[in-house]
Amino acid sequence: MTFPLYRPARLAVFASGHGSNLRALLHAFPPADPLASVQLVVSNKRAAGALLFAEAEGIPARAVSFGTDRDGFEREVTALLRTFRIDLICLAGFMRVLSAAFTARYAGRVLNVHPSLLPAFPGLHAQRQALSAGVRESGCTVHFVDAGVDTGAVIVQRRVPVLANDTEATLAARILSEEHQAYPDAVRRVLTGRVQALPKTTSSGAEVSA
Ligand code: GRF
Repeated sequence: MTFPLYRPARLAVFASGHGSNLRALLHAFPPADPLASVQLVVSNKRAAGALLFAEAEGIPARAVSFGTDRDGFEREVTALLRTFRIDLICLAGFMRVLSAAFTARYAGRVLNVHPSLLPAFPGLHAQRQALSAGVRESGCTVHFVDAGVDTGAVIVQRRVPVLANDTEATLAARILSEEHQAYPDAVRRVLTGRVQALPKTTSSGAEVSA
């Protein structure tokens, strides 16, 4: 599948947490939006704020257990993605790593948001890593998902200052509000065909805008 689709794209959002990025995506792509709308929300946590919010909004929301059974999760999710005819998957605070087989099957169709300027500070506790490293600037990255952790081609980055008196919480909040701009921006760029995932061997896979 290549973008643009020349029809409204059907988005799935995978989230494990509060779901503020889900809300930003729902706000940017409301039902009947001509570019895209969120058709499915999946969480590995039954009580995730994201899932409860989606249910309250009347969007199909499914809890799928991950636990130690990634294959089972991916089988179930793949069936859901087919049933809901999903075009693009947005990981939004989804705290599990998808398999190489899954990311290969959906290559160029899975995005993630990460709270650092990748390739700096991948993985968990990116804000804590930034504070420990003493950097003056951090931010967020929306990128294509490949088989690695936070290694896929960058689509959009937005920067924030790191202040002298920052705690992990204050820095996370400053970055999060940029994520809410960056994610819809990245989705638009992908769906309009302005950015495409290129094979890993290519270094200039994506356009970066700060
Ligand atoms: C975001 O900071 C995201 O980058 C990280 O987890 C957080 C999720 O926030 N992976 P929310 O659930 O979208 O509010």
